[in-house]
Amino acid sequence: MADSCVRERFMKDRDLLNGIVLENADHVLKRLYSLDSAAFRDGGRLGAETKELVALAVSLALRCDDCVTYHLARCADLGVPTPQLAEAMGIASLIGGTITIPHVRRAFAAWMEMKQKSPGADFDSVLENLREVVREGGAPEGVLAAAAGLMKDSIPGYDWVGFYLCDPVTPGTLVLGPFSGAPTEHVRIGFGRGVCGRAAELGRTLVVDDVTRESEYLACSPEVKSEAVVPVFSANGTVVGELDIDSHERAAFTQADRDFLEKAAAALSPFVEAAAAALQGGGGA
Ligand code: SME
Repeated sequence: MADSCVRERFMKDRDLLNGIVLENADHVLKRLYSLDSAAFRDGGRLGAETKELVALAVSLALRCDDCVTYHLARCADLGVPTPQLAEAMGIASLIGGTITIPHVRRAFAAWMEMKQKSPGADFDSVLENLREVVREGGAPEGVLAAAAGLMKDSIPGYDWVGFYLCDPVTPGTLVLGPFSGAPTEHVRIGFGRGVCGRAAELGRTLVVDDVTRESEYLACSPEVKSEAVVPVFSANGTVVGELDIDSHERAAFTQADRDFLEKAAAALSPFVEAAAAALQGGGGA
C-alpha cells in the first residue's frame, strides 16, 4: 500500500511534471527519457538492487534530492535491507565528501518513513483473518476465493487479488485460479512471460512500481498502475502457483506489503498446491 507522505508527494509531483515535460519534449529529451527507462528495465548483470544502489550513491554524490528520493523508493520496493542501503550511502558520502551529509540526513529520514508499515492497512489483523480462513479449511478453490476476497476488501489499494496455479498437465504454464476483481483475459501465462511468468520462473517476489515502464507487462486493465507477484512454494520448495495483486495506485507496494504477501502466500500454500494438483483432473480456467 502507498505508504509515506514523502513518497506519495514526490511521486505525484514527478508524474505531473514528467507529463508536462513529455508533452513538450523534443526528440533529444524523449530519447533521454526512454534511455533512462531502458537502463533500469531489467537488472542486467548487476541485478536490479545493485543498479538502484549505484544510482542512489551517484545521486547522493551529485546531491540531487529528487533523484535520491526516487531511487530510495525503488530500493524500498526491491526490499533492499537497511544495512546495505547504509553502506551505499557511506560510499557515496566518502566520495562526495561531507557536503553530502545534509542530503544523507534527508535520505535516511525518507527511507525510515518509506519502510514504515502502511497506515491504511493493518496487515497483522488481515493475516490473522487469513489464518482463520485456513483453519476453517474446505475445498481449495473456495478457500483461495475467500482469501482473495478478504485481501481485496481489507487492504486499500489492492484492486485485483488472485491466484495463478502451476499446471501439472503442461509444466511451465500458469493457469488462472480463484480471484477477486475484474475478469482478466490472461487465463494462461507461460513461465517467463509477463510479471507473473517471470516471478514463477525466478521463484521470487516481483514488485512493479509503474507498469508502463515494464516491457514484459501483460495488461489486464488500463487502470492498473502497479503490481506485486509472490510465488507460492510447496513444502519441498517448488513453485506451485502465485499470489498476484494489481493496484490502481502507482507504487502501491512497500516492504510491508511484500512481507505481508509472502506470509499470506506461505499460509495458503497447501491450498494453492491442492488447487494446482486438481487441474490434473481436467479443471483449469
Ligand atoms: N499483469 C500480469 C498478468 C496478470 S494480471 O495482472 C491479472 C503480468 O504481467 O503477468
